[in-house]
Amino acid sequence: MTGKKIIVAVDGHSSCGKSTLSQQLAAKLGYTYIDSGAMYRAVTLYALKNGLILSGKPDKNKLIAHLPSISITFRYNPAEQKSDTLLNGENVEKAIREPIVSNHVSPVAAIKEVRNAMVKIQQKLGRNKGIVMDGRDIGTVVYPHAELKIFMTASPDIRARRRYDELKNKGIEVTYDEIRQNVEQRDHIDQNRETSPLKKADDAVVLDNSHMTPDEQLQWAIKKVNEIITKDDY
Ligand code: CDP
Repeated sequence: MTGKKIIVAVDGHSSCGKSTLSQQLAAKLGYTYIDSGAMYRAVTLYALKNGLILSGKPDKNKLIAHLPSISITFRYNPAEQKSDTLLNGENVEKAIREPIVSNHVSPVAAIKEVRNAMVKIQQKLGRNKGIVMDGRDIGTVVYPHAELKIFMTASPDIRARRRYDELKNKGIEVTYDEIRQNVEQRDHIDQNRETSPLKKADDAVVLDNSHMTPDEQLQWAIKKVNEIITKDDY
């Protein structure tokens, strides 16, 4: 690898392995990895804890008024070799992965003011390049000039199966059917919201990893990075 640093934007559907790929790619390149979904999950956890979600829906105006009181940061966890998410200084890495957060995050992430606040932080994190960030709007809104944009997908059944196995391994009690429903529901909300809907950037390369191993998708992405950083005109 040369010393040239780029921005890698990884977008795609729920539970298709974006964070696995992004984390491994960042480690391989010596880049920073940022999980932008963790930020929306942390805002959702804050809203749940502070009674800002009633009958399953976020109280938009109240949540917007609370935004200045919500601080989201990351702290490297050497044991896991990845960053933990902190909400107002508290480590919430485990809590934000719980199904209750997954079930409420997409309506929270659809609020324009929430997105504006998160995007500002995300853009600051990438100002020196050398970053891999995954999410839904990274290549379209956060870093429209990212040198490499990857749009990931896999079949809904395979995605639900992977997320089910992941949660089961963590000892979280879930059923396959509820996970499948959540994955499809989030895709629907993420793709149809007004602000920054999930969509492939025109210049993104598609990675359907339905039948790929984590190592195969990593090799695929490394090849794409190499094609960019070895280009004469880069
Ligand atoms: O479960 P998965 O890893 O696929 O999702 P995530 O990356 O943790 O993101 C959780 C949710 O946050 C998504 O379903 C979106 O509603 C929202 N999100 C977003 O709107 N924009 C982003 N850049 C990242 C996540």
